[in-house]
Amino acid sequence: MKKLAAGNWKMNGLAAHMAEIDALAAAHPAPASEVLICPPATLLSRLSDRVSGTPIATGGQDCHPAESGAHTGDTSAAMLADAGASYVILGHSERRADHGETDALIHSKTTASLAAGLTPIVCLGETLAEREAGKTLSIVGTQLRGSVPPDASALVIAYEPVWAIGTGKVPTLDQIGEVHAFLRDTLAAHLTALDATDIRILYGGSVKPTNAAEIFGVPNVDGALVGGASLAAADFGGIIAALDAATYG
Ligand code: PGA
Repeated sequence: MKKLAAGNWKMNGLAAHMAEIDALAAAHPAPASEVLICPPATLLSRLSDRVSGTPIATGGQDCHPAESGAHTGDTSAAMLADAGASYVILGHSERRADHGETDALIHSKTTASLAAGLTPIVCLGETLAEREAGKTLSIVGTQLRGSVPPDASALVIAYEPVWAIGTGKVPTLDQIGEVHAFLRDTLAAHLTALDATDIRILYGGSVKPTNAAEIFGVPNVDGALVGGASLAAADFGGIIAALDAATYG
C-alpha cells in the first residue's frame, strides 16, 4: 500500500488557485507516494478534470449520509464521485466542532461514502483539555469504534490532535507514535473485512516541509493530512518529497 500525502484546502481556493496544482504536478510528475487534494466542493469537478493524466487524485471534504433528496446545501457521496473524487474526508474536527457532528453521524457518512465507491478518510483527535487529562487514547478509541463501520471495505484514518491543527504546535514524536500504535491495535480488534496492517494511518496537524521528515520516521505513520501547507505547491511538494524519501529513500 502506498503512503498517502493528502491536502485539505478547507474553505480556501478560488478558480485561480488551481494553478498551484499545475505547479505541483509539474514539480512531482511521478511521486512514489499517493498524492491527494481535497479542494472546496466548488472546485472539485474542475480540479478533477485538471489533474486527469497526472498522479494527483481528488477528494471531498464532507458528504451527506443520504444518496439524494431534500437536503438543501448538502452534497452526497455519489455527487462527489460523479465530480471525480476518489476519497472523502469525514469527521474532521472542524466539522465536529462547527456542525456538531457525532460519531454516529460520521459512521453513517462512512457507510454512504463506501457505497458510492469512495475511500473515507476518517478523522480522530483529542482536544488539549482531553490530552492534559490523560484521556487521549480513550477519546480516539471511542471515536474510532463509533465512526468506523467494522465491515468497512476501504479506509484511511487521520489522527489529528485538535490543538495541533493550524496552530504550529505538534505533539512529540513519542506522543504521535503512541497514538498511531494504539490506533493500529484498535483497528485490528474492530475491523472484520480489512487487515489493520493495510490501513493507512495519517498524522495531521501543523505538518510542514520542515517537520515532515521526522514525523514520517515515526512507526505506524503512513502519510499526512495537511491543511495550511497544502495550499502552496512548494510547501506541499516538500512534504511529498519527505514522504517519498522516508518510505523509499
Ligand atoms: P493544518 O491542518 O495542517 O493547517 O494544521 C490540518 C488539518 O486540519 O487537516
